[in-house]
Amino acid sequence: MHIAPSILTADFAHMGDELTAIFEAGIRWLHLDVMDGRFVPNISFGPMLIRSLRPIAEQYGVVLDAHLMIADPDRYVEDFAAAGCEYITVHAEACTHLHRTIQHIRALGKKPGVALNPATPLSAIEEVLPDLSLALIMSVNPGFGGQRFIPASLDKIRRLRAMLDERGLNDVVLQIDGGVNKDLIATVRDAGATCAVTGSAVYAPGRNRAETVAELRQALGE
Ligand code: DX5
Ligand code: ZN
Repeated sequence: MHIAPSILTADFAHMGDELTAIFEAGIRWLHLDVMDGRFVPNISFGPMLIRSLRPIAEQYGVVLDAHLMIADPDRYVEDFAAAGCEYITVHAEACTHLHRTIQHIRALGKKPGVALNPATPLSAIEEVLPDLSLALIMSVNPGFGGQRFIPASLDKIRRLRAMLDERGLNDVVLQIDGGVNKDLIATVRDAGATCAVTGSAVYAPGRNRAETVAELRQALGE
């Protein structure tokens, strides 16, 4: 199970330290929540910030995983590829020609992912499952960190796990994003997720980052 911290609630004035702290604690995935103020109400950051984090991530061999909560993401996938993102995930709801967008990311030599909002059925990605490197189930409505996990997401993870298993697509990363904390992380793994995004559970105000990472590991029995 990969733990992929989201920097959304980290201290942006001390980002270098915030990253070193979790990488020293053994984290090897970094989830980058990109928001445009249009697909979601919030605005976060873009490729320029990601490019500046890249050297620290490369030093530790960390996978950069971009979650694009932006309208018409085709306009920007080149920029995120050039910024060093290995996984580039777009929202099914934001793409008119989802298959084309996935091929576009693949053609750039990157790993395409598709995210589904809580109200979007799994059928929205059924036809493209063999083309994906990652499938992301949103367990909150995208836009903000620190929201509560929507319980119905667990069954959605189980159903997606079954769909992937039936098709022999064992290499597709099944990522769960939103409200995952130490009390839930083992449950989402047992439901079939292979990567858990953890924003506020890692970057909790005033908490030691090595401790929050250790808590999650312990909850996984690692
Ligand atoms: C929600 C983002 C998430 C989220 C993670 O729009 O995609 O990655 O902020 O943060 P927590 O774990 O606090 O829900
Ligand atoms: Zn995210």
